[in-house]
Amino acid sequence: MNRKIAVIGAGNVGASAAQYAAEANFADVVLIDIVEGLPQGKALDLTQAGPVRGYNGMVTGSNNYKDIKGADVVIMTAGIPRKPGMSREDLLSINAGIVATAGKNIKKYAPKAFVIVVSNPLDIMTYHMWKSTGFPENRVVGQAGVLDSTRFRAFVAMELGVAMRDVNAMVLGGHGDTMVPLPRYTTVNGVPIKELIPAKRIKEISDRTCGGGGEIVKLLKTGSAYYAPAASSVEMARAIMCDEKRLLPCSCHLSGQYGIKNIYIGVPAILGGGGVEKILELQLNKSELKALQASAKKYQGVLKEIGY
Ligand code: LAC
Repeated sequence: MNRKIAVIGAGNVGASAAQYAAEANFADVVLIDIVEGLPQGKALDLTQAGPVRGYNGMVTGSNNYKDIKGADVVIMTAGIPRKPGMSREDLLSINAGIVATAGKNIKKYAPKAFVIVVSNPLDIMTYHMWKSTGFPENRVVGQAGVLDSTRFRAFVAMELGVAMRDVNAMVLGGHGDTMVPLPRYTTVNGVPIKELIPAKRIKEISDRTCGGGGEIVKLLKTGSAYYAPAASSVEMARAIMCDEKRLLPCSCHLSGQYGIKNIYIGVPAILGGGGVEKILELQLNKSELKALQASAKKYQGVLKEIGY
């Protein structure tokens, strides 16, 4: 194939992203990890699933960043995941080092790539990747809103017994407890959920969405979610590589939109061949805007902890 996705990190999120990317059948995939044999083994296994699953892209594995050469999109998943009782911010210092190394190598070997960051704490690591690569802000974006929104969508579909794909939702803000689900922008094929679900129940579903990652950490005990995070990152990669102009909530660099500056945080954006082609400014009501700004403020504080 003439398109290539590089996935950094061959752990659960990375391997699942490689699988979803291969199955999406629009690009070759290279899986990178420092652990010898791990990316090679998983890549070979995924390649051998190709004939049965009907995909044609090659999946290769490597311990060397130079093999990301020619990648159109790099999905950054490397980093340690949460264990029960940890917040995403507890991962800060270890993951910051990993992201800085990846950023330097992406700059060196795939200087034209778009980068989708999945490593946590997400909005902070996306900012750090932006700085580490020195890429323009349209080429570095964080995957969080697609995941948080798909969780919200799934919960609404479960509540109403309707098709998952008919539910559209918008969750903005940071990828953490301060995220901002927007029920006003959440519909079942255009029907606002407030016409279908009582307000008290919507609040409960919103709260469950905010704690959605933590709910899975608690169940798994040894790590965090990976299928939905991986699927969401591939959705974004496809939007960019196939120039789909999708309107998706993503962690983007803001320069005054929503009264927020110099931080990455979840906002609705158009994702296409130019990466983040446009950031949309929704007409949020007072409490929605306040929640988004409060979320941004929290992350501004965390950025300082890694020297920004
Ligand atoms: C989650 C982690 C991956 O939300 O951030 O599941």
